[in-house]
Amino acid sequence: HGTMRVNEKGHLEIGGCDAVDLVRVFGTPLYVLDEALFRENCRLYRVAFARGGGGVLYAGKALLTLAVCRLVEEEGLGLDVVSGGELYTAVQAGFPMDRVYFHGNNKTADEVRMALSAGVHRFVCDSFDELDLLSRLALELGKECNLLLRLTPGIEAHTHDYIRTGQIDSKFGLAIPNGQALEAVRRCLERPALKLRGLHCHIGSQIFELEPYADAARILMEFARQVRDVTGWVIEELDLGGGLGIYYSPGDDPPAVETLAETIFGAVAQAAASEGLPIPKVLVEPGRSIAGPAGTTLYTVGTVKEIPGVRTYVAVDGGMGDNPRPALYGARYEACLANRMNGRLDTLAVSLAGRCCESGDLLIRQADLPPVRVGDVVAVSCTGAYTYSMASNYNRFPRPAMVLVRDGSAELIVRRESYADLIRNDIVPVRFRTRQ
Ligand code: LLP
Repeated sequence: HGTMRVNEKGHLEIGGCDAVDLVRVFGTPLYVLDEALFRENCRLYRVAFARGGGGVLYAGKALLTLAVCRLVEEEGLGLDVVSGGELYTAVQAGFPMDRVYFHGNNKTADEVRMALSAGVHRFVCDSFDELDLLSRLALELGKECNLLLRLTPGIEAHTHDYIRTGQIDSKFGLAIPNGQALEAVRRCLERPALKLRGLHCHIGSQIFELEPYADAARILMEFARQVRDVTGWVIEELDLGGGLGIYYSPGDDPPAVETLAETIFGAVAQAAASEGLPIPKVLVEPGRSIAGPAGTTLYTVGTVKEIPGVRTYVAVDGGMGDNPRPALYGARYEACLANRMNGRLDTLAVSLAGRCCESGDLLIRQADLPPVRVGDVVAVSCTGAYTYSMASNYNRFPRPAMVLVRDGSAELIVRRESYADLIRNDIVPVRFRTRQ
């Protein structure tokens, strides 16, 4: 997919760059981001959701670096940030703050001050305590705080089905049935520094069904009508969160972005008509479906251990440190040998192991690969989202580099961590140093 192909040497090529050359120049593990595909995914969303003055906020939690901020900005998307660190990244990248939405269920006072001073466009808030904090700090800084309230529509979408519960029990969102959502609206309206612009919900991630989005839209619009009846407040923005699934491995069959847009716009228009409300600006916050397919991780095989009659372990020079998803969620991926793409016929099921000190550090439990040799380059596809952004230094492995590839050129956008980086923040108390 994207700009991936097999070149005349039988090597994997991404963005016109031979993966084997990338490995020679940048080393492994290496995150490779396909610029054309990342941009294309942004464009698909921007075009599909251009209707009605709403828009698309890229969810930075999936993958955020300075260069990624620039891509998102150039493609005309907004940005959803959830922490001071993500906001700082956006500020440093010069990302326009009037396109930034600040999420999170426990923003600190420092983060709120930083966001108010920077001029973020919207806060997304889901607790009474945070409403107090936002109001207090906005007054203190002489700013206005524009916000959305995050609600729990009582829908949980999974990959292949979804359930509606009265779901009041969540750390995210304010519940409608117990009256807390309405109470939060009231408090917003009472406080002059708070400007309530709309409602938000997020029903899950890696979702393959569209009906839950339509249901969520209907539930929030019905609530908006109740609120208008009681308080006179009229919804301006409806943010339905992210969550669209992507292809990782056989069996994954995600719907198209255009279909998501049609489903959402259809449901919103219908709900607006039946509730007697104006059609609000519709927003979505995709992360995975923009960054995920655009990323590939390259590894070098270090050992191949065959346990006769049992299984073969192919160990690569990365693992749960650079991609914790298989260990954390049992996530499935596909791999290929980037240096021998034409040897596909006699594949063998092997386990692709990482090098962390955990039995659970298997990148792929059953990878179909041609007979693997030490020194082969393994490419794991669709690793652009929730990999680097969730990476750790467990076992003191430095985090990998990331390159942006396009039209045959590769540019470093995240430097490989060094051993010196690993001890950068370590301090030895003075008393240890007094020895000769
Ligand atoms: N908006 C909100 C409020 C969210 O909580 C999330 C994801 C998104 C948008 C973006 O959702 P996406 O389009 O990427 O599905 N670490 C997990 C995924 C956690 C998603 C958390 N929230 C994973 O690796 O599967």
